[in-house]
Amino acid sequence: MADTDGLKVEKNYHLDREFAVSGDFHVKGASNLDWGMKKRLANIFNPKSGNTVMFAFDHGYFMGSVSGLERLDITIPRLVDHVDVLMTTRGAFRTSVAPPRKSIVLRVSSGSSMLDDDLSHEVLAVDIEDSIRMDADGIAVQVFIGADGQLSSIDTLSRAINAGMRYSIPVLGVVAVGKNMERTDQYFKLATRIIAELGAAIVKTYYCDKFEEVVAACPVPIVVAGGKKLPEREALEMAFRSIQGGARGLDMGRNIFQSLHPVEMAGAIGKIVHEKFTASQAWEYYRDTAKIKQ
Ligand code: R5P
Repeated sequence: MADTDGLKVEKNYHLDREFAVSGDFHVKGASNLDWGMKKRLANIFNPKSGNTVMFAFDHGYFMGSVSGLERLDITIPRLVDHVDVLMTTRGAFRTSVAPPRKSIVLRVSSGSSMLDDDLSHEVLAVDIEDSIRMDADGIAVQVFIGADGQLSSIDTLSRAINAGMRYSIPVLGVVAVGKNMERTDQYFKLATRIIAELGAAIVKTYYCDKFEEVVAACPVPIVVAGGKKLPEREALEMAFRSIQGGARGLDMGRNIFQSLHPVEMAGAIGKIVHEKFTASQAWEYYRDTAKIKQ
């Protein structure tokens, strides 16, 4: 372990400088990966905008049937054409989503439920062969830095990355927040950097103050989690600020499927992510398409 005495105290994130080793591939930190990894990452991140709208509906893996996802077979099919990537469990995909002409990211970690006080103990629950069978463009693992289950969580992440490396399937490391895990830039800098250095190709985390610094210090693309349902206008603000701050996309669940107008909300997020809409323009788009009176 490095001796922490006498470290340079001031940090410099060089916010005025682009990430240096981009090469000619549009995904941050992926220039030196092999062909198969790049192909899958290009399925996730639109080569034109460099960004992605992921739609997360994996909540059932520990929360059961949350509001809005009581019937996957009814809710999900109408949203498929309005997002870039579908992210959920193999059970949700196989039972309720017809094989889409669309990128999928498979949730492969699990181990707890809402009934547990401590959600941080997860294992790798899906064999890499099943992810290959389902033609996943990525596999997602929840990572609990600073929690009781940190060791098993890092073990799970590393197993997924090792398996993914064998077959060129990128890993999405999902920063968990919970007990002792504050939503501060310090915490997110720590967690995102650990996950990227362990070999994840994409990191999902939350928006926070000094988000630009979190992005600058993370050598792979960050996609921002939606979190609890917000009023649509606020969710669009958060999405806009995330993209402004350097996020390469959103991985949103409840703010889409719990909206009164999920399709229109997904569309508005897409406008911010791919077409440089401001939050106000996206809000107008949402109101117009959802036919909401002023
Ligand atoms: C995060 O803990 C899990 O990946 C969730 O089930 C999901 O991705 C969260 O989506 P949202 O917070 O946007 O509803």
